[in-house]
Amino acid sequence: MNQPKKPASSASRYTITAALPYTNGPIHIGHLAGVYVPADIYARYLRLTGNDVAFICGSDEHGVPITIKAKKEGVSPQDIVDKYHAIIKKSFEDFGISLDNYSRTSAKIHHETASGFFTTLYNKGEFIEEVTEQLYDEEANQFLADRFVIGTCPKCGNEESYGDQCEKCGTSHNATDLINPKSAITGNVPTLKQTKHWFLPLDKHEAFLREWILKGHKKDWKPNVYGQVKSWIDDGLRPRAVTRDLDWGIPVPLPDAEGKVLYVWFDAPIGYISATKEWAAREGKDWEPYWKDKDTKLVHFIGKDNIVFHCIIFPAMLKAEGSYILPDNVPANEFLNLEGNKLSTSKNWAVWLPEYLEDFPNQQDVLRYALTANAPETKDNDFTWKDFQARNNNELVAIFGNFINRVVVLTNKYYNGLVPEPSEFSQIDEETLATVKAYPAVIASSIERYRFREAGQELMNLARLGNKYLADEEPWKVIKENEARTRTIMFVALQIASALATLSEPFLPFTSNKLKDILRLCHNEEQSDVVISSNKEIATAQKNKSRKDTLSWNDISLKDTLLPVGHQIGKAELLFSKIEDETVQAQIDKLLATKKANEAANKAVEPQKETISFEDFTKLDLRVGTILEAEKMPKAKKLLVLKVDTGIDVRTIVSGIAESFTPEEVVGKKVTVLVNLAPRALRGVESQGMILMTETADGKLVFVNPDDAKVNNGLHIS
Ligand code: MF3
Ligand code: ZN
Repeated sequence: MNQPKKPASSASRYTITAALPYTNGPIHIGHLAGVYVPADIYARYLRLTGNDVAFICGSDEHGVPITIKAKKEGVSPQDIVDKYHAIIKKSFEDFGISLDNYSRTSAKIHHETASGFFTTLYNKGEFIEEVTEQLYDEEANQFLADRFVIGTCPKCGNEESYGDQCEKCGTSHNATDLINPKSAITGNVPTLKQTKHWFLPLDKHEAFLREWILKGHKKDWKPNVYGQVKSWIDDGLRPRAVTRDLDWGIPVPLPDAEGKVLYVWFDAPIGYISATKEWAAREGKDWEPYWKDKDTKLVHFIGKDNIVFHCIIFPAMLKAEGSYILPDNVPANEFLNLEGNKLSTSKNWAVWLPEYLEDFPNQQDVLRYALTANAPETKDNDFTWKDFQARNNNELVAIFGNFINRVVVLTNKYYNGLVPEPSEFSQIDEETLATVKAYPAVIASSIERYRFREAGQELMNLARLGNKYLADEEPWKVIKENEARTRTIMFVALQIASALATLSEPFLPFTSNKLKDILRLCHNEEQSDVVISSNKEIATAQKNKSRKDTLSWNDISLKDTLLPVGHQIGKAELLFSKIEDETVQAQIDKLLATKKANEAANKAVEPQKETISFEDFTKLDLRVGTILEAEKMPKAKKLLVLKVDTGIDVRTIVSGIAESFTPEEVVGKKVTVLVNLAPRALRGVESQGMILMTETADGKLVFVNPDDAKVNNGLHIS
């Protein structure tokens, strides 16, 4: 256990935002683990400790991905966003993400707010208006911005970078910075065409950004976030276009801007503000303190690909506007992988939330727990079904569930469900009760430092404490000889159970409510006698705010008795159930089937390239070489640096085979070398030739092997 801190500080106002999901597909476990579950734990914890919280999200409905999806499906962008907005909204409700408002950027209030924001900056002279050359697809008859263009990232060499952002290194750039750009619509090489746009001069805000983040937040921001921001600022900030030539988005509110819309990353973060306005209007509150009062803490929960937008561009916009607060923290997470591979919507490599619920009805908390235990907080992490099963069976069932079940069953059996009167406490009892009182501060300290994994494990440690207490004290044996002692043990155990019911709420909201119902630690205000037990009823009751819990977070450390003597509890109900091997195997099989389908799709034979002449072919100077040395290129997954004896000389060749061969494997190997290929620098190492490779039918990379060739009488050109 960590050193407990003082109980949660006095009430404050918090505006908590969770990244607005693109409305071009459902939500998967990566989104949940990286953004929505941690944000929800944080928001629930803050509410439980009496803070004023606005927890805000909504659908990000503009931007190129949505237009691309609409084109693919032959429907309108509006159809796409309507469909997925409903699906995503439902997933958040289903998984207990306790948003105060889930809005959407197609809402009128958002169009007004975003236009207004643009106009304010425009009137203040915060933009540069400039006619520049932008990439244009002649065939598709449109400008290529953002995801409409793919090319090589100038920073990291990723060949599949988008026009506005490289997903590999997180860099955000201008489409014209891409090396070898290609249209994502037609595959054509774009031309350049003049067009007018409005740019936010980030360079002008550099001094402020340096001061604010690099000096002000060095200590309290996560190292991954701070590091990315620092490298971005150190590379030099440049003006960024905040408008686009597209037909889907918020029209640029200027007279001479026909056919132009706001850049999606300009409008989407303003969506946090519009969603707050919408919520405040509904609740009869004033939205402004949530965005303009210096005492409000603004916290953005996002994935790592969103860092520059939330730590540089949006703050620069807010600063330029002048009346807004800036984020207090941006606890971005790394990525979650699934069974060893990157989650991918296009490859269907994902666990989609609606599908999960079909396969595991009413088991939202299990997923929330497994994802929290394995959250990609400091590095990318892997979700595996085996781990999911183990978290459920070994922790939720064997520790948490087992403890609660024993307490409730025994209390009913021995005392008809009435909390018994304790006699004298033993030293163990005293220590145990004192430890329970320390837990709120311990868990709070982890949550306040955005360490949700640690916080979740501390919660489980509290259940462990209860489980161990019962196992050591053995009331089921003691009852035979010492009634008074048994009552004391059960009294202590019931106190631990009550603490668990309350402290588990941020992590396991459905279980927490179920447990509070069993222990009668809450009442439903409209129908005070009804025990709410199904998840649906809980969700409804929560939404209607008709549930009232009798214990608050801080009560666990402040009150000496959580469940008073004589209090009636309800009957036992299983909180968790064991997940069998067959069940997780079925999920693994589903993924294997996806993998097979993807492989089959990829196998689609590439069409033959254009015919070349014999003269073209004879230009290739192919030699048999021997690899003398090999080593991995530092920080490059795919590259080996080879020294090759070509028969003419010994030269350096950089080869992209490191994922298929180790350096040891290839040393001494005879290979076919194209020796007259123009030299090219790869990661600063000049490669003077190319090793010929090909792929077998099952996709394995193999050398074009001169030893085999020899059998066929050498490698001949004729
Ligand atoms: N839609 C973006 C994504 O999924 C996130 C937008 S966050 C906001 O990556 F700040 F712009 F709202
Ligand atoms: Zn990159």
